[in-house]
Amino acid sequence: MKGIILAGGHGTRLHPLTLGVSKQLLPVYDKPMIYYPLSVLMLARVTEIQIISAPHDLRSFQRLLGDGSSLGLSLSYAEQDEPRGLADALLIGADHIGDDSVALVLGDNIFHGPGFGALLERHAGDVEGCVLFGYPVRNPEDYGVGEVDAEGRLLSLVEKPARPRSNLAVTGLYFYDNDVVDIAKNLRPSERGELEITDVNRTYLDRGRATLVSLGRGFAWLDTGTHDALTEAGQYVRILEHRQAVRIACVEEIAWRMGFISREECHRLGSDMAKTAYGRYIMDITAAD
Ligand code: DAU
Repeated sequence: MKGIILAGGHGTRLHPLTLGVSKQLLPVYDKPMIYYPLSVLMLARVTEIQIISAPHDLRSFQRLLGDGSSLGLSLSYAEQDEPRGLADALLIGADHIGDDSVALVLGDNIFHGPGFGALLERHAGDVEGCVLFGYPVRNPEDYGVGEVDAEGRLLSLVEKPARPRSNLAVTGLYFYDNDVVDIAKNLRPSERGELEITDVNRTYLDRGRATLVSLGRGFAWLDTGTHDALTEAGQYVRILEHRQAVRIACVEEIAWRMGFISREECHRLGSDMAKTAYGRYIMDITAAD
């Protein structure tokens, strides 16, 4: 399975924060926002990942993450010159996807919860159709919304409905089989002129090949779309990290625990940041016995 992180857009709701910096590079407590979706792909055991962003921001992502080899990953970069919609990522990434399945994640989505890695690995292997992840929210009208029957089967998908039929938001993590490339190629822009990911998902639903996995209570899917939401996301990460003395979305640690790099290699990544608690955490967990 290949991975794509879509990290473009204008970030207008976060101005002036995002006038000079890409939204997905803003800090969420102790690490750049993109570490969170990157860690999701890594937990799904996806190592060949394309990062798509605006032309003027790509260099910053490259400076941050390079070719990914220090994390045992293979990272490539592609431009989206205008935000033409989330499904545009599947067209830009078509060559990268090749004949494979793909996990698309939005660069501003933060997930955290028990058993998430195992859940991801379970659904990432051998995807048939598409797998979506639903999360109950107070404001479903701000998202793609999935309606399910009593058995949890998906009945409908609507993008930002005025009158939502359920409180299940469709999160910004999507697993697709290889049909998605053709589906994306045949999409027409929506009324707001975008290639909508919900239209891709609805095509799978119409074919009876869409699955919605519900992320239940006790799971966190955090918003980063406003100044308050961004601050709250950082506070959430800070509180958990302080209380439990573990780090969320520490990509170096995940690379080691997933077996992408050795303990020694991971330790070295920590020692390069030894002035920070983040770096010392990596050094501590990888210290020789
Ligand atoms: O976060 C989950 C939601 O993401 C889903 O529930 C919705 O179904 C889906 O349409 C999307 O809704 P948003 O309103 O959050 O989409 P937005 O246009 O804000 O884009 C999400 C992120 O993707 C944002 O960080 C900007 C980036 N983006 C967006 C577009 C349209 C791109 O990089 N390129 C684009 O062309």
